[in-house]
Amino acid sequence: MTDKLTTTPQPLAPPETLHHHLLEWYRHARRDLPWRRTSDPYAIWLSEMMLQQTQVETVKPYYARFLARFPTINSLAEADLQEVLSLWAGLGYYRRAKHLHQAAQAVIQHHAGRVPETVDALRTLPGIGRYTAGAIASIAFHQPAPIVDGNVMRVLARLAAYDQDIADPRHHAFFWTLAQEIVSAAPKSHYGDVNQALMELGATICTPPPSRPAFLLCPPRNACRAYAPGRQLELPVKSKKAPTPIIRARALILLRPDPADSNSQRVLLLRRPT
Ligand code: ADE
Repeated sequence: MTDKLTTTPQPLAPPETLHHHLLEWYRHARRDLPWRRTSDPYAIWLSEMMLQQTQVETVKPYYARFLARFPTINSLAEADLQEVLSLWAGLGYYRRAKHLHQAAQAVIQHHAGRVPETVDALRTLPGIGRYTAGAIASIAFHQPAPIVDGNVMRVLARLAAYDQDIADPRHHAFFWTLAQEIVSAAPKSHYGDVNQALMELGATICTPPPSRPAFLLCPPRNACRAYAPGRQLELPVKSKKAPTPIIRARALILLRPDPADSNSQRVLLLRRPT
């Protein structure tokens, strides 16, 4: 590891070569996912909200049910929050559902019912951070906006042989700068595809330990600074997270005999206020 903080990415392969490899590969190897069959910004936004912290296979049935019940922003904005939450039940991180509902109302009130197109405008909406804004802007609106998540950081750390700890947020600026350079140099109208190719590479080929990356199948391997000296298994450097804190909580369940059936008991459940 070097001592110095590396903050400015060095140019990788000529951008046209990198994009050519990424886009060619993505065209034939990409997984056929429901949100890749639509150009509806609302559906793309919904998929990105559901995919935060959640695996693709888990999201698929929730995405289909949610869109069947709330096919438009209008229908979601007018919905009762409890119904929105019930469609999210089991997916976890319920704040995403509350934010999505609030954001749909904000789109109706402040954006004439249309999903905003720029990263800055998207980021004013509840639940939309830098990554989600970049994903929506590039995939739905063909803007040259970068995206950086764990998968993309791993791919870029290997491509650029970046050996600083990616668990340290002080090092994330490196990845945003590099991702911006890569997407900005992509052919027009392929910004979303380049971003999705980077995500897809991280999810399917340039995988994290303990799985071995399928580096022989990696389309831009000849431009990869980790692959050339055989360092792809050493990178990225990622320190262990602090152990998950244990939170102690209490729950109260009241049971009383069911007067109509002496063999069973009734349970009183109270919904907590949201
Ligand atoms: N994870 C986050 N966004 C994604 C997308 N659009 N496709 C697949 N996985 C993703």
